[in-house]
Amino acid sequence: MSYRLITLNSGNEIPSIGLGTYNIPRSKTTSIVYEGLKVGYRSFDTAVLYGNEEEVIAGISKYLKENPKVKRSDVFYTTKLWNNQVGKHETAKAINTMMEQIGDLEYIDMLLIHSPLPGKQKRLEAWKVMQDAVASGKIKNIGVSNYAPKHIEELLNWSELKIKPAVNQIEISPWCMRDEIADWCLSKDIQVEAYAPLTHGYQLQKQEPEFASIMKKYNKSAAQILIKWSLQKGYIPLPKTSTPSRLKENFDVNDFELTSHEMEVISQPDVHDPTDWECFDAA
Ligand SMILES: NC(=O)c1ccc[n+]([C@@H]2O[C@H](COP(=O)([O-])OP(=O)(O)OC[C@H]3O[C@@H](n4cnc5c(N)ncnc54)[C@H](OP(=O)(O)O)[C@@H]3O)[C@@H](O)[C@H]2O)c1
Repeated sequence: MSYRLITLNSGNEIPSIGLGTYNIPRSKTTSIVYEGLKVGYRSFDTAVLYGNEEEVIAGISKYLKENPKVKRSDVFYTTKLWNNQVGKHETAKAINTMMEQIGDLEYIDMLLIHSPLPGKQKRLEAWKVMQDAVASGKIKNIGVSNYAPKHIEELLNWSELKIKPAVNQIEISPWCMRDEIADWCLSKDIQVEAYAPLTHGYQLQKQEPEFASIMKKYNKSAAQILIKWSLQKGYIPLPKTSTPSRLKENFDVNDFELTSHEMEVISQPDVHDPTDWECFDAA
C-alpha cells in the first residue's frame, strides 16, 4: 500500500490520494487522522467549514511525535477559507487564526479558497494575502475549490498574480465527470483534486451488472473501484471515512489496474448527478 507524489506547479509535491475529513465529528477526528497515518495516508483535507481543523492537526502531531522517522515534510495538511474569510482583512485574520492553531506543524501545506461565491474583488484581495503568506513561509501552496475556468482565468490574467493556483478541488465521480473543467485545469498545470469520489456513499450500493463484474474480477469493493477510477483519470481523490476499517480498504488500491475499456464502462458522461453544491456560475 502506498501513494505516489505528484509535483505541483509550485515545485512542491502532494500525495496522490488524501483523506477527506468533512462530517467527521470532532470527537472522532484526531483518532481517525492518527489511524490514517498508521495505514499510510500522508495527506489530509479539512476546512474551516468542517470545524475540525484543530483535531486534524492534533492527529498529525501525535503521530509525528510517536514516529520520529516520519518527518513533518512527509505529511500534507490542507485547509480552506470559508466564504466569509475571503477578502483583504478577512483572509489576513483567518490566516492568523490558522497559524495560532497550527502548533507543531508550523506551516500549512495547502490553503484553498473554498468557493468563488464571495465575488471577484474579494477573491483577488484574498489571493494577494495568500501570496504574501506563501512568501512569509506560513503556507507552502495555494489553490482554489469549486472554481470554473472563468474564475481561474481571472487569476491567471490578473496583473498582480505571482503564484498560480496549484489545484482546483471539485466534485468528480463517474456520475459527475466534469471532464471539460478537469482537462482545462490539467492543461494549465493545475492539479485536480476530486472531492466526493465515493458520491457521499450514495452510489456504492447500486452497482450495475458491468460494474459488479469489474469488482468481482479484481476482488475489490465499489469504493476501491471508484478510487482507482479517479487515480487513473489523473486526479487526486479525497475519499472520506470515519470508519477505521475502511481507511485501509480505501488506501489499498495499488495491486490492480483498470483497463481502458473498464474505465469507459465505469464512466457515465451522460449523467450529471452531483452530490454536493455547484457554484461554477458565481459572478
Ligand atoms: N471543496 C468542497 O467544496 C468539498 C465538498 C465536499 C467534500 N470535500 C472534501 O472531499 C472529501 C470527500 O467527500 P465526501 O466526504 O463528501 O464524500 P465521499 O468521500 O465521496 O463519501 C464519504 C461517504 O462514503 C462512505 N464510505 C467511505 N469509504 C467507504 C467504503 N469503503 N465502503 C462503504 N462506504 C464508504 C463514508 O461512510 P463512513 O464515514 O461512515 O465510513 C461516507 O458516508 C470530504 O471529506 C472533504 O474533505 C470538499
